[in-house]
Amino acid sequence: MPGIQIHDKFFVPFINADTINKRVRALAGKINSEYAGKNPLLIGILNGSFIFAADLFRELMIEAEISFIKLVSYKGTSTTGHVISAIGLEENLHGRHIIIVEDIIDTGKTLSTFLPEIYLRNPASVKIATFLSKPAALQFDVKADFNAFEIEDKFVVGYGLDYDGLGRNLPDLYILES
Ligand code: XMP
Ligand code: MG
Repeated sequence: MPGIQIHDKFFVPFINADTINKRVRALAGKINSEYAGKNPLLIGILNGSFIFAADLFRELMIEAEISFIKLVSYKGTSTTGHVISAIGLEENLHGRHIIIVEDIIDTGKTLSTFLPEIYLRNPASVKIATFLSKPAALQFDVKADFNAFEIEDKFVVGYGLDYDGLGRNLPDLYILES
């Protein structure tokens, strides 16, 4: 696999599609056994998670539902600070088993700010499935329950993740060349 240029940056091959697909299937296997008979509701966070969420969902052999939301972040009042709010969360989460599906946990800020909004709706349980995490970058108290790959603290594109809009359609994952 050759390296690629996106906008002004150069990326090199990092994790190939085959390896990705095997790991996603393994995660789905865990969810299949843990959630049989529970009808979990997967909530994918757009845009980055759409490919991971679709691949993961296709591998679920149990009764399960999926929905997608978009997070918008804006400046709140001086007491609330930075606010992250969900668009498109119409499902009733009360008593449901929720699996949040993310592309990547970097600092953990997005999820740690957004998760209270989920808990307010009284779900039966909440777990997090993320395609990637960067343990060295973590600054907030969020932990993935299902994590396909832990990676170093470098920028990556492909498999749904973008650099300034481009690269989401790459089947393999690429990392910024250093
Ligand atoms: P936090 O810091 O809130 O960040 O956990 C999560 C969001 O940051 C974006 N992000 C990336 N996007 N390649 C990307 O394409 C990366 O290496 C990367 N690191 C963080 C992403 O939108 C994620 O939801
Ligand atoms: Mg992005």
